[in-house]
Amino acid sequence: MSDTNNTIAGWVLGAGIVALGSYIITDTIFHADIPEGDKVGYIIEDEAPAGEAEVGPTMATLLASADESKGENVFKKCVACHTINSGGADGIGPNLYAVMGRQIGAAGGFAYSDALKSVGGAWTWEQMDAWIESPKKFANGTKMTFAGIGKAEDRAALLVYMNGQGSNIPLLEEPAIEADAEAEPTENVEAVPEAAEGQVEEVTAELPVEETPAA
Ligand code: HEC
Repeated sequence: MSDTNNTIAGWVLGAGIVALGSYIITDTIFHADIPEGDKVGYIIEDEAPAGEAEVGPTMATLLASADESKGENVFKKCVACHTINSGGADGIGPNLYAVMGRQIGAAGGFAYSDALKSVGGAWTWEQMDAWIESPKKFANGTKMTFAGIGKAEDRAALLVYMNGQGSNIPLLEEPAIEADAEAEPTENVEAVPEAAEGQVEEVTAELPVEETPAA
């Protein structure tokens, strides 16, 4: 009986130790989980760009990094209706030489729709970007039967290419905040090599002193 009791007591104690052990392990895992919890936070951040228009790179940034030769490729979508060389003929759409900065719907000799003519103002980066994204939304009733280009990078490349064809209006300035953020690390990077150089000079200066007695 007493042996049985001891055995039972042993099992209870053993179970207690196992339980305590599991608790400690669980506790450890739980703590180890906390950094993963942070990673979960990143996943939430990944979801944020779903509203990309606001979270994504600004147009200024896209334009600054745009690839003009890629834009020339994108322009192939337009050549069925447009020429872009100087003095090129109007097709279904007007010649687009030097169109950036030009008045909207105002090239002489082309019969624009009232929808486009009534927009007013000049072709800025923002206006052209909106037009190419969705001609119909930009000027409801336009004669340009083109669905639009959804990818902001492709539009930026196209616009930079178009700008290179006789327009050359200045690129948009990138936001000052980004410029500051870039300036700070640059200063730090410069500071580090200076300090390192100082140390190297000291070490170099000591070396001959040590060598002199040996020689
Ligand atoms: C199916 C023919 C067609 C295609 C394809 C087309 N366009 Fe057009 N585009 C037109 C027509 C037609 C107009 C005149 C629109 C109006 O008057 O409403 C026009 C007008 C324009 C204008 C206004 C010009 C001005 O003088 O104000 C721009 C800029 C333009 N297109 C750029 C493009 C670009 C860039 C592409 C390719 C991504 C493109 N178009 C593709 C037919 C086309």
